[in-house]
Amino acid sequence: MIDIQPDISLSNYAEALRKGKVIAFPTETVYGLGADAWNADAVARIFHLKGRPPDNPLIVHVNSIEMAGSLAAEISEDARRLMNRFWPGPLALILPKRPEVLDIVTAGLPTVAIRMPDHPIPLRLIEEAGPIAAPSANTSGRPSPTRVEHVRQDFGAEVPVIEGGSCQYGLESTVLDLSIRPYTILRPGHITQSELEQELHQPVRLISSHSTNFTDLSGNTPRSPGMKYTHYAPDARVRWMQPHELPLPDDLTRSTLYLLHRIRPNSAPYPETDQLIHYRENYTEMGRDLYDRFRMADLNRFAEIAIEPFTDSNEAVEALLNRIRKAIGD
Ligand code: TXA
Ligand code: MG
Repeated sequence: MIDIQPDISLSNYAEALRKGKVIAFPTETVYGLGADAWNADAVARIFHLKGRPPDNPLIVHVNSIEMAGSLAAEISEDARRLMNRFWPGPLALILPKRPEVLDIVTAGLPTVAIRMPDHPIPLRLIEEAGPIAAPSANTSGRPSPTRVEHVRQDFGAEVPVIEGGSCQYGLESTVLDLSIRPYTILRPGHITQSELEQELHQPVRLISSHSTNFTDLSGNTPRSPGMKYTHYAPDARVRWMQPHELPLPDDLTRSTLYLLHRIRPNSAPYPETDQLIHYRENYTEMGRDLYDRFRMADLNRFAEIAIEPFTDSNEAVEALLNRIRKAIGD
């Protein structure tokens, strides 16, 4: 965790939250666009600013298990176990909500998503202003912001943003639904299925990246309303590279950004340019960098982004693969 000095301006931001203002702040995953979770007008402003459909609920950010208890109807033993093990950290838990939790926050669902971020800035804000409802700080349909500039690209001067450098993970939190059985990962993230299973001593289901509009057993409503919307897509067309494109020629198509990741022991390394990035199997780095590259591709007017396919999907690339598939519309 990053250490910060007590900062008077953070208190000013907390004060703004208490007064019903919307502000953007860094977390360890992506930047969030936050408002006082108990203030319906303030939360409505988040939806308005993002152009977010009202049926897509928000994650409420807390700084303790106790505060989670003010939102969830009950903190089950399993929920507590996960909170103790993974909080603060990139894990949002979906639990049955208390009746007081605002409908606008949960989009009318009987459940609420809660997470404790592993970042000193939001933790301080929450300490001073209470729970913060916050989606990612991008306008709807744009890639999540992982740097201050990204928030400014989407909101200009309309939203005050607290600077916090580049986000540690660069991909959004794992969203785990504890209100259904088996427990189900609705969005893969840094905390993996096997880590969750190990802690819970039971199988956890992972919703496939392809089932973006799945129905649950009891009805036909999408389990995670956000999943039915196209997400994370830059303007440039994102596509998988075709086998015949490799090895890449010296003179690359100018309008394509190439993202490679596999190491081929017997081939000469590609020279890195603004047009060709090679992550050399460093998937942490690739995850941290992905949304920034998506945005850069648009700024530099690339027509497409060609990404080297993953030969086998394993847990280390699950979240990354999920976001790329969404961007491709796969
Ligand atoms: O890493 C993150 O989680 C970031 C940072 C800012 O904390 N936040 C984030 O929020 O990614 P957002 O709103 O972009 O994504 C939240 C996802 C959406 O897909 C939403 O549909 C789902 O969580 N969600 C929220 N509440 C839910 C609920 N009660 N039931 C099912 N899905 C829910
Ligand atoms: Mg989002």
